[in-house]
Amino acid sequence: MDKPEILEMVEVHPGTTAELEEAYVVHKLWLADDPDAFVAQVGCNVRGIATNGIAGTKGVALAALPRLEIVGVFGVGVDAVDLATAKARGVHVTNTPDVLTEGVAELGMALLLDVARRLTSNDRYLRAGHWPKQGDPPLASSLIGRRLGILGLGRIGRRIAELASTFGMQISYCARSPKSDVDYAFYDDPAKLAASVDCLMVSCLGGPTTAGLVSREVIEAVGPKGWLINIARGSVVDEDALVDALMGGRLGAAGLDVFAKEPEVPSALIGLDNVVLQPHQGSASEETRAAMGRLMLDNMAAHFAGKPLLTPVT
Ligand code: 8YV
Repeated sequence: MDKPEILEMVEVHPGTTAELEEAYVVHKLWLADDPDAFVAQVGCNVRGIATNGIAGTKGVALAALPRLEIVGVFGVGVDAVDLATAKARGVHVTNTPDVLTEGVAELGMALLLDVARRLTSNDRYLRAGHWPKQGDPPLASSLIGRRLGILGLGRIGRRIAELASTFGMQISYCARSPKSDVDYAFYDDPAKLAASVDCLMVSCLGGPTTAGLVSREVIEAVGPKGWLINIARGSVVDEDALVDALMGGRLGAAGLDVFAKEPEVPSALIGLDNVVLQPHQGSASEETRAAMGRLMLDNMAAHFAGKPLLTPVT
């Protein structure tokens, strides 16, 4: 039987791309000089899309893929996928939840610890040769006893709550509705949560329902001594307001793994010492990415074998 044809939007992960090529005819959009011409040329036979959480289906009109059956997302976030069209056309969308929870939560904690203990700031201080001349840098903060507010208590938010609890932090959260299986304090309004904590951890879904949820008001409610960590999506935070607040001392510090226009990062952030920046690394460990690849491949294989999908979104 002929191999199904798929369109790979980006090189999702080298090992996964290699395995895709064994099972499918893979049209690599990421190698095309002229993406539109490439889609026009191969699109009519494409039955699947392999993509990641950032690229989704951006830049490709699904109408150009009349035989499309499945979009396999290498990531948990599907905010970059044209879900409305997929649903309307009965195109399946799968993602890779659970297997990345630990990795992303770990990075959230790493950013939190870095901001609190001034790790990269002190690293810069030492490398710049300031220690022998200027003495010790300013004192850092401990996590124990501090209040962590989690915006979005999904799988990743819950895991961060558990990890932060073991560091002695007091947990509260804001979500669409209170969760009956946790006893952390619940807030129905991000600004109220922000005003009641030392650190706001953004771990909610991206997409239109959360765009700009962390507004200027929310950022300023975290305050001059507070910290903001974002491991969700850049779209959730008003990035201009964030930069203004950090520069104007109205927000104490930030740890950011995600940005509004990745891979572009506001240049004003680069020079700030009270910010720790990561190039969207939440799931970027060998172990996590391999597990994500396996799950994406298994979803694709299940679909083309006529079996139930493992982790369907639509
Ligand atoms: C990845 C992500 O960084 O899971 C998500 O939603 O954003 C990330 O895990 C992304 O899919 C890049 O491969």
